[in-house]
Formats: sequence, structure tokens, C-alpha cells
Amino acid sequence: MNTFTFYNPTTLYFGSGQLEKLTTEVPKYGKNLLLVYGGGSIKQNGIYDNVLKLLNGVGANVVELSGVEPNPRLTTVHRGVELCRSQQIDLILAVGGGSVIDCAKAIAVGAKYDGDFWDIVTRKVAATGALPLGTVLTIAATGTEMNSGSVITNWETKEKYGWGSPYSFPKFSILDPAHTASLPANQTVYGMVDIMSHVFEQYFHHDSHTPVQDGFSETILRTVIDTAPRLLQDLQSLEERATILYNGTMALNGVLSMGIRGDWATHNLEHAVSAIHDIPHGGGLAILFPNWMTRTLDANMARFKQFAQHVFGIDATDKTDRQVAEEGIAALRQFFNSIGAPARLADYNIDDSTIELMADKAMVYGNFGNFKKLTREDVLAIYHMSL
Ligand code: NZQ
Ligand code: ZN
Repeated sequence: MNTFTFYNPTTLYFGSGQLEKLTTEVPKYGKNLLLVYGGGSIKQNGIYDNVLKLLNGVGANVVELSGVEPNPRLTTVHRGVELCRSQQIDLILAVGGGSVIDCAKAIAVGAKYDGDFWDIVTRKVAATGALPLGTVLTIAATGTEMNSGSVITNWETKEKYGWGSPYSFPKFSILDPAHTASLPANQTVYGMVDIMSHVFEQYFHHDSHTPVQDGFSETILRTVIDTAPRLLQDLQSLEERATILYNGTMALNGVLSMGIRGDWATHNLEHAVSAIHDIPHGGGLAILFPNWMTRTLDANMARFKQFAQHVFGIDATDKTDRQVAEEGIAALRQFFNSIGAPARLADYNIDDSTIELMADKAMVYGNFGNFKKLTREDVLAIYHMSL
């Protein structure tokens, strides 16, 4: 296990009725509140009305920024930053999924920076501060509710990159499983794939003797695999929703990566796909991850064997390590198929005509990934395997 520092200042309010915590949290930060949300799901499922009632109850002056896109765009961040300045915003409240929350993180940091926020995404300058941010999460997927990361798309240049800073953790996040019950099956699936992918990014490493981290990771993976069919049978089940919601937060709040060095190559590969084709993040990961695994298997066969045995219960008797490892990857493909996740880029009408461009975007900082450093040849191979 490597040396590590763990820092996570986000207060998590989890469970039924926790939305009420807005009445104690919001007044801590001031009167002028920017309410950030997406394309309208929170109006359809009633969350918007409930939030506004509570905000009005504490006398907040609410300014709204709606229409945050899935794969949130830099232009929307700019709109939000302008509102923060012109309306003297004290606090930002993001109500929605990862896209809404990531956009709100960018606005919070952008409001404290005089230049173009893209400078921070592209690491030309470091963040120096942020407006306080609270979140009400409506989809179990990204883990953004309890981490400092955010992913923003520059649609003009077709670039989508993650960024983060110590200032971009939410001050508080409210997670009520009931807020996720209106999610349709496809978004529920994308979320579960994203959660599993976050575990993969932190599970496939070369650091020896990490039994506790391995156990946490394998438990999350097995739990998603076990829960998914029941949840998809009954999308309203608050018990299953709660399980997935908690898994989503735990998969990417820093706990799994204590003492290890994560990989994150497949996320980079996916961001390059959605930067150009605007596909759902979880859908892209379902296509790419099994192919990344096949391509990188030889980097650490023992790790893949452990994955196959501990997560999918593959019997290793009389089999080579490679056979066991490959059966694990096949079992993952089969699981993704069974929950209706996409399997090929063709499912999104993506053919080989943009592969070189996607590789250019993915390689912008050179070879990448810590489990196996992917070269351009690897990147092209994985995209081709995914067609
Ligand atoms: O926009 P609205 O109308 O709200 O609809 C959304 C959107 O269309 C809908 N939705 C959300 N909650 C709902 C709901 N529909 C019905 N009922 C509800 N309760 O779902 C659609 C997708 O929402 P989105 O926020 O885009 O999904 P997700 O949470 O998966 O976020 C994806 C974004 O997060 C980034 C991705 O790259 C992508 O840009 N990521 C952020 C990370 C982070 N900050 O740590 C890590 C991830 O790996 C990921 O890269
Ligand atoms: Zn992800």
C-alpha cells in the first residue's frame, strides 16, 4: 500500500426526508442562491416544487439557471458565472444528476476567477477559491456529490476533460433514494455501469497487498451485479434504489483509492467519444471497458484472475490463469448485456470514420493510464474492438 492523504469535507445527508436539511444548511451561506438544474426532470417528478418550498421558507432569493445539458457545456458554465456576478450570489444549489452538479462546481470556481473558466479545465491556471455549493442528487452514477471532480465539454473544440480542485467539493449533498425513483431504465443502467467502472478504475492496479481496498471494491461490484436485475424489475423499489445510491457515492468519494494508484484510462477513452458524439457516459463505458480489459490483460493477469473469482465466482479448477481471467471478462460482457447496456459503438451509429479524431482527443496529454500506459496503437485498437 502506498502513502496517502485522505481529505473529504462534504457533509452527506442520506435517506428519506433529508431534503429538509436545506432549511439548516442554506442559511449558513447567505440569502442569494443560484439554483442550477437540467432539462426539466425535476419539474416532472416534483423535486423542484419541494426544493422551492423549503428555499422560500428560509427566505432565500432564488435565481435560476436551467437547461444544463447532459455532458454539460462550457457555454452554460459561462452563463452561470455571469449570473453569480450580476446577482451577487452567495450560494449555489445544484439539483440533478452528475451533469448539473459538475456544471455547478465549474460555476462555483469560475465565479472566483477573472479569466475564462476553460483555463482551469486545461490546467493553464489553478483554482483559487469557490462559492459554496450544495447538491441534491437525482441519479446514482458519478459520485460527484462527494468528490471534487467535474467534467466539462467544450463543444466548439470538441473537447471533454475532467478537472478538480480542493475548492470544488460540495459543502453538503442530500441523497434521498426517492429522488432517483423517476429515472427511466436506460439512465438507471448507465448509472450502474458508471459506478462499476469507477471501481474498475481503482481496482486494476499493481500495488501489492491491498486486501481491505480489494474487499471494498469487490463488495461494491458484487452488490451492483446482485441488485441490478431486481431494480430493473421494479424501478420504484426504494430499497434497491438506496443500495445503488450508496454504492455510487462510495465508489468515487476517495475511499477506494486510499493507498493505491488508479488507472482512469477508460474514462479518458470514453470522454473522447462523448466529446465528439455526445453519448451518455455510462453507455460509452459499457462498450469500452470489456475491450480495455481484453487489451490490458497481460499487464497483470493475477489481478484479472482475482476479479473473475471474487466478483463473478469463476471456478479456477484445472484452468490456466488466462482462461480464468478471460472468463471473468466474458462474464462482465454477459452481465452488461443482461441489463440492456450497449455493447458496440455502432449502437450509437458511430463508425470508424472518427476513430483517429477520438484518438487525437484522448492522447492530448500523451500516453495515459497507470495499469498499462496506453499508446496510440492501444487506443486505436480498443476503439476498433468497440466498433
Ligand atoms: O436534465 P434532466 O431533465 O434533469 O434529465 C437528466 C438527463 O437527461 C436525467 N435525470 C437525472 N435525474 C433524473 C433524470 N430523469 C428522471 N428522473 C431523475 N431522477 O438523466 C439524464 C442524465 O443525467 P446526467 O446528469 O447527465 O447523468 P450522470 O449523473 O450520469 O452525469 C453524467 C456526466 O457526469 C460526468 C460524465 O462524463 C457526464 O458528463 N462524470 C462526472 C464525474 C465526476 N464529477 O466525478 C465522474 C464520472 O466518471 C463522469 O465522467
Ligand atoms: Zn464515470
